[in-house]
Amino acid sequence: GAVKLTDAVKLKDKVAVVTGGASGIGRATALLFAREGAAVVVADLDGPGAASAARDIAEAGGRAVAVTADVSVEDDCARVVRAAVDTFGGLHVLFNNAGIIRRADALGTTVEEWDRVMAVNVRSVFLMCKHAVPAMTSGGSIVNTGSGWGLKGGGNALSYCASKAAVVNMTRALAIDHAKAGIRVNSVNPGDTDTPMLRDEARQLSEDWTAFAADAADRPMGRAGSPEEIARAVLFLACEDASFVTGSALVVDGGGLA
Ligand code: NAI
Repeated sequence: GAVKLTDAVKLKDKVAVVTGGASGIGRATALLFAREGAAVVVADLDGPGAASAARDIAEAGGRAVAVTADVSVEDDCARVVRAAVDTFGGLHVLFNNAGIIRRADALGTTVEEWDRVMAVNVRSVFLMCKHAVPAMTSGGSIVNTGSGWGLKGGGNALSYCASKAAVVNMTRALAIDHAKAGIRVNSVNPGDTDTPMLRDEARQLSEDWTAFAADAADRPMGRAGSPEEIARAVLFLACEDASFVTGSALVVDGGGLA
């Protein structure tokens, strides 16, 4: 029969949770998921930011609800999953994207900073999966955000590098544990991406943004990525195009690891 282009959305009738959906990569992915037919729960510590992302989706004709949540806290993670089930009737896609970075080496990192980075970047993935997996009763796809630095390491971000390496390997463990339940689990590993986080890093290093962005050491393509370029890779992993992809670490970094 004739191809109906309007039916060619990749997340038709799916319900997705995006953590850290108020800003940067999470916001771009929430918008793309909604354009591809998903109902989206935008979860973020930044409540007004999450509400604004949900409003943008609604104004574009999509379905979204905002939840203010700290994903390092178990009750908040449970509440985010409940919002998906109660509002949209189920859960199929989880994008564990919320994360923080502290630009410091071992000498410059306090125990409190170490613990916060590990809680927000690593414990959150465990807790969100703990509550989301039982809600994915018809199978699903989980995408965790690692980083190029979770694979190769990097300077002056010790806690962050540890946390992102943990995310990459937890992803493989989760993929094995939940494969029989029809749940795929993959990590997306961005290189430098132009978001508020990266601009804040430049500030933490007291570097001018333009000079920071122009530093080509890790960038054969001579530029940082855009949040939308990461979002399209997340969409691939989230949807049925990746039906035989699980436990993998997809690198989206303009050749930075090459
Ligand atoms: P961003 O700072 O623009 O957005 C992160 C969002 O997470 C913010 O809205 C923030 O409020 C939220 N968040 C932080 N802590 C939270 C918590 N405890 N509970 C709920 N929400 C929380 O950052 P960006 O750049 O969009 O980063 C998204 C993910 O991508 C992070 O995991 C980051 O580590 C990762 N990443 C980013 C790269 C970059 O160059 N921007 C490179 C590699 C990885």
